[in-house]
Amino acid sequence: APLKVTKILCIGAGYVGGPTCAVIALKCPHIKVTIVDLNQARIDAWNSPDFKLPIYEPGLEDVVRQCRGRNLFFSTDVEKGIQDAELIFVSVNTPTKKSGVGAGFAADLNYVELATRQIAAVATSSKIVVEKSTVPCRTAESMRTILEANSKPNCRFDILSNPEFLAEGTAISDLFNPDRVLIGSLQTPEGKAACAALKGVYANWVKEEQILTVGLWSSELSKLAANAMLAQRISSVNALSAICEATGANIDEVANAVGYDSRVGPKFLKASVGFGGSCFQKDILNLVYLSESLHLPEVAAYWRQVVEMNEYQKRRFSKRVVDTLFNTITGKRIAVLGFAFKADTGDTRESAAITLIRDFQSERALVNIYDPQVNEAQIWADLQEASPGIPLESIKKQVTIHKSALDACRDAEAVVIATEWKEFKEIAWEEVYKYMKKPAFVFDGRLLVDAERLGAIGFKVTTIGRSALLV
Ligand code: UDX
Ligand code: UDX
Ligand code: ADP
Repeated sequence: APLKVTKILCIGAGYVGGPTCAVIALKCPHIKVTIVDLNQARIDAWNSPDFKLPIYEPGLEDVVRQCRGRNLFFSTDVEKGIQDAELIFVSVNTPTKKSGVGAGFAADLNYVELATRQIAAVATSSKIVVEKSTVPCRTAESMRTILEANSKPNCRFDILSNPEFLAEGTAISDLFNPDRVLIGSLQTPEGKAACAALKGVYANWVKEEQILTVGLWSSELSKLAANAMLAQRISSVNALSAICEATGANIDEVANAVGYDSRVGPKFLKASVGFGGSCFQKDILNLVYLSESLHLPEVAAYWRQVVEMNEYQKRRFSKRVVDTLFNTITGKRIAVLGFAFKADTGDTRESAAITLIRDFQSERALVNIYDPQVNEAQIWADLQEASPGIPLESIKKQVTIHKSALDACRDAEAVVIATEWKEFKEIAWEEVYKYMKKPAFVFDGRLLVDAERLGAIGFKVTTIGRSALLV
């Protein structure tokens, strides 16, 4: 019979580890789940008495309220956590390397390696170690080598790959109801036994036929492939949006017609200012780097184009704003609604809004920003990082952060919708119109508002994927 897991540790209390292991605790009351992180402030937030959690995710607070202190614990004591656990998720950050070999493409595996070495150094009993961070293929192999080289008598390590497919903003419902759970293992008796133990955890709430068990490398590659193919759909639809703008076609109508084909399917075909988030670009660049390392330049070029199209989409949108505002936005006030990379999250990693605002800044526009979830400090940090060399003081002369959409739109010449927050659909647009300079322009980068209705109020509306003449 497979090992019945009763004690789980998660190393890394971030966007992936936090929600995933909180849901495991909720669905498996018989398992003690501990989540550790080196970052004391982050752990304090997870433990805060009034549940001011470090990440905003609909439904998460409710899950944590039900389990924290019962069978869900947050701590900075990584060593004790490792010693106690039977199964350890490694869910640390894997940013794109900023320098050295593969800079700008390869994943920085330093955090994964450090966590792995710590497990090897501290463990006094056998462990199942589960790779949960998105990492390039063969990382599991490296982790295995480190663990085996450091194992002690009566202390064996089995390594599994168990990529997470949740999307931010819908993390809890994705975890409750995953399309599939993927577990990769070595195809040895020990590997298969470890796989069965983890499968037993998920089987508490996920149907058996939705738990796919495959080889280690297939599992690792599947994660990169899934994200690359999802991003590719968006770049495809965004490439078509450029054709629509130049003709009389409407991208919403085109995408709808294409998506009706059951072989294509209707989801994930929304044209936008460009995809963001911590995964898509990073994972594609990993795939590009991997392809190049394997001497497959044509494959690398194919996937690289998905990212290039995304960059082009952002550039194209900024240019359209400038062109429409009579070829200059110098000194003009532009309200940017939304700063997060998508709705229902406070996460700003790789958000298209950052690029747009940087472009507006370099055209010397004045920018008003409003986002319902992103805090001010994060916005300043992101804008600073996007314009290295420009002192924050100068940025602050051009950019103002506001507490409501209405405030942000006051005296603006143009409103740019960068994130698809539902509340932007429901703004009192008649009020906004009164407050704005005329002609009052709206640029909908998310196909969010009813262009005809806004047009009737008096706005000059520009919509992604629609020709200006037709709106
Ligand atoms: C993604 C994957 O969906 C998820 O399975 C994986 O585990 C992590 O990466 P996430 O980045 O959280 O999740 O959000 P997602 O909903 O995929 O959106 C990514 C970006 O694409 C966002 O900027 C979103 O606005 C954009 N997007 C999405 C579009 O522009 N159009 C669409 O049709 C869908
Ligand atoms: C295609 C479209 O499917 C159809 O909707 C359109 O009206 C005409 O073009 P067709 O070319 O007849 O139809 O066949 P299809 O089944 O789409 O296959 C096209 C090619 O793709 C074939 O060579 C097929 O072997 C190949 N293919 C298809 C794959 O290699 N892999 C697949 O998963 C599917
Ligand atoms: P993700 O989106 O993949 O979850 P995050 O950056 O949100 O990534 O979370 C990763 C977390 O892992 C961070 O909070 C970081 O402090 C933590 N971390 C990184 N290395 C270690 C380590 N060796 N031990 C404990 N926590 C770690």
